[in-house]
This record gives sequence, C-alpha cells and structure tokens, in this order.
Amino acid sequence: MPTNNTYGIHIKGIGSYVPELIADNEMFSKIVDTSDEWITQRTGIKTRHITNGEPNYFLGAEAAKKAVADAGIKAEDIDLIIVSTCTPDFYTPSEAALIQREIGAIGSMAIDINCACTGFDYGLDMAKRYLQSEDGVDTVLLVATEELSKFVDYTDRSSCILFGDGAAAFVLERNKDTLWSSYLGADGSGAKFLVSRALKSENVFRTNKEDFDMAMPQTKDHFFAQDGKEVYKFATRALPDAVLHACEKAGMTPDELDCIVPHQANVRIIETAAKNLGVSMDKMVVYIDRYGNTSSASIPIAFCDAVAEGRIKRGDKVCFVGFGGGLTFAAVIFEY
Ligand code: ACO
Repeated sequence: MPTNNTYGIHIKGIGSYVPELIADNEMFSKIVDTSDEWITQRTGIKTRHITNGEPNYFLGAEAAKKAVADAGIKAEDIDLIIVSTCTPDFYTPSEAALIQREIGAIGSMAIDINCACTGFDYGLDMAKRYLQSEDGVDTVLLVATEELSKFVDYTDRSSCILFGDGAAAFVLERNKDTLWSSYLGADGSGAKFLVSRALKSENVFRTNKEDFDMAMPQTKDHFFAQDGKEVYKFATRALPDAVLHACEKAGMTPDELDCIVPHQANVRIIETAAKNLGVSMDKMVVYIDRYGNTSSASIPIAFCDAVAEGRIKRGDKVCFVGFGGGLTFAAVIFEY
C-alpha cells in the first residue's frame, strides 16, 4: 500500500522492442530432434524473435527511444541510465554507455547490472533508491536488453528452444512513491545450475597450467548450460515465495493485486506458482508463446504488451516477479 516516503518512483513512460526475425517451433524441429507438440506442451512457447545481425545494444536503444517518447521527455533530461543484461556486446564499454550514445543522453550516469532474469526487478529497486536520495537524480531510464541467441547452443534441444531476444525500457521519475515494496535476494549455492562462461585469462606470465576449480560445470565454450530440473524446482518455490514476501512488506495479499507479471521461462512454472499462491491464471500476465524466455527483458516486454492491449491500466496494482541465474529471485509491487 502507499508508502510514507516523500519521494520515490513513478513510471512515466514505457516501450519495448523485439527483432523482426521470428523462429517458430517448426524451424527448431528442422535443426534438433524436437517437435511443436513437445515444445508447446512442456514450455508453452510457440515463437521467439531472434536478432539478424543487430547487436544487443541496438534492441535496448530502440526500446529506450519508445519509452522516452511515451514519457514525453527529452533524452537530455535523463540523469541515470541503468541497463540490465546478461548478454552484453562488450566487456567494456557498458551497454548503458552505448544506449546513451544512441539516444543522445550524453552526460548522464550509465551503469550495467547483471542479475540474469531478475535484472529488471533489481533495476527498479536501484532506481528507487537513487530517486529517493535527493542527490540530483530526477529521471532514470531503466532498460533490459537481451540477445540470448548469441550464447544459445543450437545443438542442445533441451535449452535452445527456450530463448528469444528482445528489450524493454521504463522512464522513471522522482515523484510520489508508487513502488510499494521490493523483496530481492540470491542463493549463490545454486550458481552452477545456470551458466555461460566468460573468457579465461591466458596472460603471458601464467606458469600454472591447471584450471582453477571454480565449482562450476564443464561447459562448451561460452554456450549456455543449465540443469533444467534444478532450475524448475527452484523457480516453482522461489516465485510464490517472493510474491508472498513482497505482499507482506506492502501490507496486502496476492488476491489484492490486479495482476502478476512473472518471468516468462516456462508456462508450467507459472501455472505451478499461481496454484501455490492460490491465485487464478487470469491474474498472471503470460506472453511466453510469442517471445520465449528473453531473460531480464521478459517481464517488462510482457508488461508493455499487456498495457498496449488494455489489460493493465494506470492505477493497477502490479507485481513483477522473477528468478534467474545466480541463482537470484525478486519481486516488486507497484501502482502503475
Ligand atoms: N524436444 C523433445 N524432447 C526433449 C527436448 C526437446 N526440445 N528437450 C528435452 N527432451 C527430452 C529429454 O531428452 C528427455 O528424454 P528422455 O526421457 O528420453 O531422457 C525428456 O524430453 C524429458 O526431459 P526433461 O528434462 O525431464 O523435460 P522437462 O519436462 O523437465 O522439460 C525443460 C525440460 C523445459 C528445460 C524444463 O526442465 C524447464 O523449463 N526448466 C527450467 C528452465 C528454465 O527456466 N531456465 C531458465 C533460464 S533463466 C536464465 O537465467 C537465462
């Protein structure tokens, strides 16, 4: 319910962008041993949008331009850009710096965060703390942009069918606080369950030829690997748990929410979470059939579609809830 904070977060504009190229289940049945029936029944996914040469920052910048236009502000008004991504184009510069360049918000602070699929929830919480700080941050651009197709192993049928590319952005202003609660956390003991490896150091001074034991699985180069069953177990527990904690902090119950926008990883995870929460699937905003799992972009992309279709309106009480690599979990409750 409304907080007593003088200042906080207000969502002023939103926008999303997905690449034009679409890969449907039939296309996957031609590259791995799978079928439309298996994918639909086990995941709920029908199509995903995939980049056709455009980089990750391009997706984020397109979404950001829409959000800036929707907010009716100028790019120069932005004080801080936070970008959530686990699939950056470069180790440096950050995606935030590249998106800043593309939209012409030169001079703003620019920072990337990586919490995999919970990044947008974490980003909302960070934005709120900056906006409350009375430190000259009045407008934040929060972007989630993901190009998962670049780390997908298209020979692994159990994971390649899951992922798509896409981006979404919110313009957040310092105003009456409409973010009522956030419940964020991580369990690093599950780090090994969702993995995409970065480059190893092969520096010229190295004498030790042994690989350091990082307690992580052996994976093929940088390709994504997961223990699908462990992730499934974690997700079906973490999703309802995070919603309940966020509701408790906001002094409300899940049935008082107008809708819940969950991370779009697998429709069966979402159905189990709804059942465990005792809410009907009508309350869950699900567009996984269109986009697959776009990691941290999945929640705000679904939100943008629901707003565009009139399913979510100004004043609605909304919960964003996610789980992801780390392992991380997060739920935020706000009034749109
Ligand atoms: N097509 C046909 N058969 C398949 C496919 C496929 N695409 N993938 C796996 N199978 C087979 C398996 O080989 C197995 O065959 P077997 O019984 O002969 O051994 C059978 O189907 C059942 O496999 P399971 O792994 O038990 O299938 P399950 O129902 O658990 O579904 C899935 C697998 C979809 C991966 C599920 O476990 C899941 O969604 N887990 C969560 C994954 C997830 O959310 N990841 C998030 C990533 S988030 C991030 O941070 C990037």
